[in-house]
Amino acid sequence: MKFFIDTGMVEEIKDAATWGIIDGVTTNPSLIAKTGRTQADVIKEICSIIDGPISAEVIATDTAGMLKEAEEIAKWHDNVVIKLPLTVDGIAACKGLSDLGVKTNVTLCFSPNQALLAAKAGATYISPFIGRLDDNGHDGMALIEEIRTIYDNYGYQTQILAASIRHATHVRDAALVGADVITAPHGVLKTLYKHPLTDNGLEAFLKDHANSQK
Ligand code: E4P
Repeated sequence: MKFFIDTGMVEEIKDAATWGIIDGVTTNPSLIAKTGRTQADVIKEICSIIDGPISAEVIATDTAGMLKEAEEIAKWHDNVVIKLPLTVDGIAACKGLSDLGVKTNVTLCFSPNQALLAAKAGATYISPFIGRLDDNGHDGMALIEEIRTIYDNYGYQTQILAASIRHATHVRDAALVGADVITAPHGVLKTLYKHPLTDNGLEAFLKDHANSQK
């Protein structure tokens, strides 16, 4: 399973890069807005920190506009992945970019049929938003499971990128149902390391070692 970090904050990405387990980065217009910087500046800097897929989202809502923006964004770095919304225009843009060999991430996916459309358009990644579904009384993880079944039924190569991850249980469950990638905020990724028995065990080992040296 690949681990992406979901943020536009360069300091968080620099910190996560030292962990040795981060494969890529996802951003969205809201995350970029929080940085107070332009998307171009942020994405170019991220590309200098992480050598892996970096998703940058288009703002245009029509296919021609998305393709024009994608052309510009793709010039920033070879690792940039064009993030497109799951709309009629977004899927058409995805098909156009896939045919050109450009990597895409279709975002704001909330149903199995939407994921099927993205796969048919040759998307590199599909981003189902687990947390937002849970927030609205649906079962986010069931969606990941259904997409896994559909993609396996037909051999689609589109990678399932479990997004809108809110806590460690989402990561565990996404791994259990076969998501290819998870993208999570810095804080959630840090919680994956934690277990009280690890802390207690280490404390005891260090204490016993120190006592044995006296
Ligand atoms: C994924 O690509 C999105 O940026 C992100 O996971 C959305 O998460 P949110 O629902 O916490 O905003």
